[in-house]
Amino acid sequence: MGIDTEVAIVGAGPAGLLLAHLLHLDGVESVVLEARDREYVEQRVRAGVLEQGTMDTLREAGVGERMDRQGAVHEGIELRYHGAGHRIDFAELTGRAIMVYGQQEVVKDLIERRQADGLPLLFEVEDVEVDPDAPAVTFAHEGERHELRPRAIAGCDGFHGVCRHATPDGVLSERTREYPFGWLGILAEVAPSTHELIYAHHERGFALHSLRSPRLSRLYIQVDPHDDIENWPDERIWQELHTRFEKPGWTLEEGPVIEKAITPMRSFLVEPMQYERLYLAGDAAHIVPPTGAKGLNLAVADVRVLAEALTAWLTTGDDSQLDSYSEKCLARVWRVQHFSWWMTSMLHRFPEEDEIQQRLQRAELDYVTSSRAASTMLAENYTGLPYGWEAA
Ligand code: FAD
Ligand code: PHB
Repeated sequence: MGIDTEVAIVGAGPAGLLLAHLLHLDGVESVVLEARDREYVEQRVRAGVLEQGTMDTLREAGVGERMDRQGAVHEGIELRYHGAGHRIDFAELTGRAIMVYGQQEVVKDLIERRQADGLPLLFEVEDVEVDPDAPAVTFAHEGERHELRPRAIAGCDGFHGVCRHATPDGVLSERTREYPFGWLGILAEVAPSTHELIYAHHERGFALHSLRSPRLSRLYIQVDPHDDIENWPDERIWQELHTRFEKPGWTLEEGPVIEKAITPMRSFLVEPMQYERLYLAGDAAHIVPPTGAKGLNLAVADVRVLAEALTAWLTTGDDSQLDSYSEKCLARVWRVQHFSWWMTSMLHRFPEEDEIQQRLQRAELDYVTSSRAASTMLAENYTGLPYGWEAA
């Protein structure tokens, strides 16, 4: 069965859902296809830090109301090492801030809006096939096969999606770096032991204390990426967290662990982020290690550019913005790749690290926490460079 639409969007993560909403605000029709069910995408625990620009984008698009009520604005973070904490004051250094609000809450807000607007968003689609040359997307839904013949396709289907692989061999250059560690993340039912995020560097490895709400804490520790979560009973995780966060006069409160998983860490991207009328956005085009809290924010930055470019083309016929989509996004992607790699390298323990490497890390931490110029660099990147900064 054929379905008419201007843009086919594959994937209902933050990238696909926000793109669909921004296009709708500009009067452009789209259909969103999602492989999983609604409950799954709404419950999937992932990122939690929204940059200033992401916050502003959600507000301007009219989907920031619950975020403003339930999220928490943070004006700094703590870097902790050798038993001492050092605050990086974002507000003072840059005049900008971040919002702590779970990715799945952003996803819930966008799904609710899409459904309230009565616009097409199909869950549990199967056998999605993408033909960028036609362009066409075929899929099965509720036992029937369908075909979309849109003007353009947005590949917002994450790192494991199908869109990137629908391009002919050799068209996209892939660049990948795997890190020799992963993050074991937990969600715990306990009031956070801190008001601001703590990034800890310790000889046993990195640890991060993040937050979700006044009663929910999100914590991470660096582990072997091939380790099995079965090897990590809750007591062992808490023990490791106590050790890595140790600071005189500070206590880490424990609570029931309601979610735990190990995620590998990689830097990955494709160049260009486009082939014919197929445009890749978010994790489908790039992955950054989570130490800079950037994955979700980069997805939002991509779809802002894409929504504007698609709208210009579909309403006036001018495709010059679409032609520069990839180049424009990649300027930010490489900046963020660098920042995420830099934060990761500064804070993690590398296997086979020699003493020189350890002293270099320590020198970098001392510089970042003592020099105004260096801490401003961290603050500017963490809160997110303003949109269009690369053209300035
Ligand atoms: P996704 O959120 O991955 O959405 C893609 C969607 O496409 C999914 O809903 C998927 O089900 C769907 N899909 C896939 N294939 C198909 C198909 N064939 N047809 C239809 N639909 C399809 N970032 C941080 O900053 N901090 C973190 O702590 C953090 N933790 C993470 C943990 C994990 C396990 C992962 C995978 C990522 C994490 N990230 C984190 C990164 C961040 O969550 C992502 O950058 C963000 O989700 C990107 O959004 P997206 O919409 O591009 O992709
Ligand atoms: C999170 O809250 O999940 C989070 C926060 C900061 C990061 C990564 C993840 O750098």
